[in-house]
Amino acid sequence: MTTPTLETPRLVLRPLQLDDADQVQELFPHWEIVRFLNSVVPWPYPADGALTFYRDVALPAIARGDEWVWTLRLRSDPDRVIGSIGLKRSADENRGFWLGLPWHGQGLMTEAADAVTDFWFDTLKFPVLRVPKAVANTASCRISEKQGMRVVATVERDYVSGRGEAQIWEVTAEEWRARRARLTSGRIDPQRIEEARALLGRLFGPTPLVHAASLSAADHDVYLKIETGLRNWNFTEVTGQLQAGDEIVTSLDVQGLTDGLAVVPRDESKTKD
Ligand SMILES: CC(C)(COP(=O)(O)OP(=O)(O)OC[C@H]1O[C@@H](n2cnc3c(N)ncnc32)[C@H](O)[C@@H]1OP(=O)(O)O)[C@@H](O)C(=O)NCCC(=O)NCCS
Repeated sequence: MTTPTLETPRLVLRPLQLDDADQVQELFPHWEIVRFLNSVVPWPYPADGALTFYRDVALPAIARGDEWVWTLRLRSDPDRVIGSIGLKRSADENRGFWLGLPWHGQGLMTEAADAVTDFWFDTLKFPVLRVPKAVANTASCRISEKQGMRVVATVERDYVSGRGEAQIWEVTAEEWRARRARLTSGRIDPQRIEEARALLGRLFGPTPLVHAASLSAADHDVYLKIETGLRNWNFTEVTGQLQAGDEIVTSLDVQGLTDGLAVVPRDESKTKD
């Protein structure tokens, strides 16, 4: 599975590319960002740290199908990298992230983490997601809490700032889906689901359709997500905010084929492909 571009209400998550290294080199090497990262991160950070890490470690792992990594960009400024998030095959280190200092504390990483967690369970179909967090890393632990994760083990880890206590946080696919359903139950207008179902039927013929949703941590709006039983792709993109006046439109998969539906806010639907 290649890494697709993901969108959230405020962010575009673009698959990592080698030429992102220049921007990352400017943004990443700050003590507040690296102190609770694994001690494999070199510190002081070398002038070619981002380039060599992406070229020699991250991009080869992505090419092997062991990792999925994105840079984060604001939808309002999509050329500018503001952070990164990644997923990987591993017993208990499946997700990692960092955000440039000017963007901390706005709920942005929670939004990105929700999107890639959906991708982990719905597209990659892993049964469980586990992440280690330094106990002292309050912001990161809080993201796990907000996502309904549980602490399953306490271990010692080596961080850039030295050895310290870490907790392994976990959520299963079942728990993630149940949480999503709980958060949205009763909040999606059944009429919109029916409209989506009818449109899907017209486009593709009868097809199984289940709806799910994710929450924007920023404003607690509901975002509709539709999974189809179509052959080429289990549709999992969250593309729109469900409000009166929204339009239901078809959406494209990574190859550019129409494969599903999205609800797009009225003002954005005009510019949508
Ligand atoms: C972890 C990190 C990505 C969080 O990004 P972010 O976009 O600021 O996170 P969010 O705003 O989505 O959520 C952070 C939560 O922690 C809370 N928080 C942040 N600092 C806190 C503190 N010192 N004490 C208590 N709560 C704190 C925020 O209030 C927020 O919770 P809320 O939504 O309930 O208010 C960012 O701090 C970072 O890049 N840290 C360095 C890299 C790192 O540690 N990565 C994780 C390794 S496991």
